[in-house]
Amino acid sequence: MELPTCASAPFDHAKADVILRSADGVEFRVFTLFLSLASPFFETLFGLPQAPDGASDQEMKDGLAVIAMSEDSKTLDTFLRFCYPSTLAEDPSLDNLTEILSVLAAARKYSLDLIERKVCQALANPKVLETDPLRSFAIARNARLKHETVTAARYNLRQPLIPVLFAEINLITASDLLALVTYHKKCIISVQGLMKDLKWMTDHYGNRNGCNWLSSGAYNDYSGEYCNCGQGTDNRFFPWGSNPVAWWTTYMQEVYELLQDSPSGNTVKTAADRTIQKVRGANCSVCSGRVKENMTEFSDLLALKIDEAIAPIELEMDF
Ligand SMILES: *[C@@H]1O[C@H](CO)[C@@H](O)[C@H](O)[C@H]1NC(C)=O
Ligand SMILES: *[C@@H]1O[C@H](CO)[C@@H](O)[C@H](O)[C@H]1NC(C)=O
Ligand SMILES: *[C@@H]1O[C@H](CO)[C@@H](O)[C@H](O)[C@H]1NC(C)=O
Ligand SMILES: [Zn+2]
Repeated sequence: MELPTCASAPFDHAKADVILRSADGVEFRVFTLFLSLASPFFETLFGLPQAPDGASDQEMKDGLAVIAMSEDSKTLDTFLRFCYPSTLAEDPSLDNLTEILSVLAAARKYSLDLIERKVCQALANPKVLETDPLRSFAIARNARLKHETVTAARYNLRQPLIPVLFAEINLITASDLLALVTYHKKCIISVQGLMKDLKWMTDHYGNRNGCNWLSSGAYNDYSGEYCNCGQGTDNRFFPWGSNPVAWWTTYMQEVYELLQDSPSGNTVKTAADRTIQKVRGANCSVCSGRVKENMTEFSDLLALKIDEAIAPIELEMDF
């Protein structure tokens, strides 16, 4: 058998009064007082009368009872840190949904109510939301956490309207899912207005000269060359009544389609990154050098307008 390893500080304290052994054999020396204060489960467990020496099959080590836990050392370490006072162990940062779920399961198993809430609050962590908005939504909704649920619904706008099957779908009801899809649909409709009327754009730049990078056939004073990117002909996207440069029209057409499914600022910023790469690769002496600055500014503006358009829309759900 492998020798058990000892957990790191503060779970290696010489004056600890019980040992918890994780499923993967790591021994955590902990104070029963902290665990009893955090959880009625532990309070009962540690309050049980001790059998006289030798009369029980309780495993002992260095005079301390050893309790075998079914959690692995990573999960145990995280939830013990939540149980300990913050002067001894800071609340651990949780930015991985798989880990959040294991700690949550342990918190529920040991009736650590306060910790359950704290763990769920990690669902509002952008790192978690960027990778798993839908799963975070389901877990937060199930825990009846309003802020986390609403934030997850907002991040989920980056995803398609109709979700694919996901692990935690059974944590929510059909009404919850309908509320999410309805919210998403309302956001799509609201954002469509920005693509149909470019007033936000003409207002921002003032006039054609305010965004001369948009004009096709521009001239480069230094190289003496003209832009050879061609003209866009889709007159849905003529902010000043004349043909803009073709790659911008292509960007707008692409974004128009994408926003019908994923009405989020992230959608237009990611599409802008693709356009920047494409234009740079085409080596236009006028556009290549400035496309990054100009399209970053433009897509930031559009993303801001999208945020403003969806801000008043509410997720209709009771908490
Ligand atoms: C989250 O943690 C699990 C287990 O520790 C790991 O397998 C997985 O790759 C991690 N996921 C991310 C997105 O980091
Ligand atoms: C752009 O320039 C690079 C390096 O000068 C060259 O390798 C590439 O083939 C050019 N691309 C086009 C589309 O002309
Ligand atoms: C476009 O980019 C150029 C060069 O990077 C910069 O000088 C110009 O101010 C930009 N125009 C706008 C409207 O952002
Ligand atoms: Zn060009």
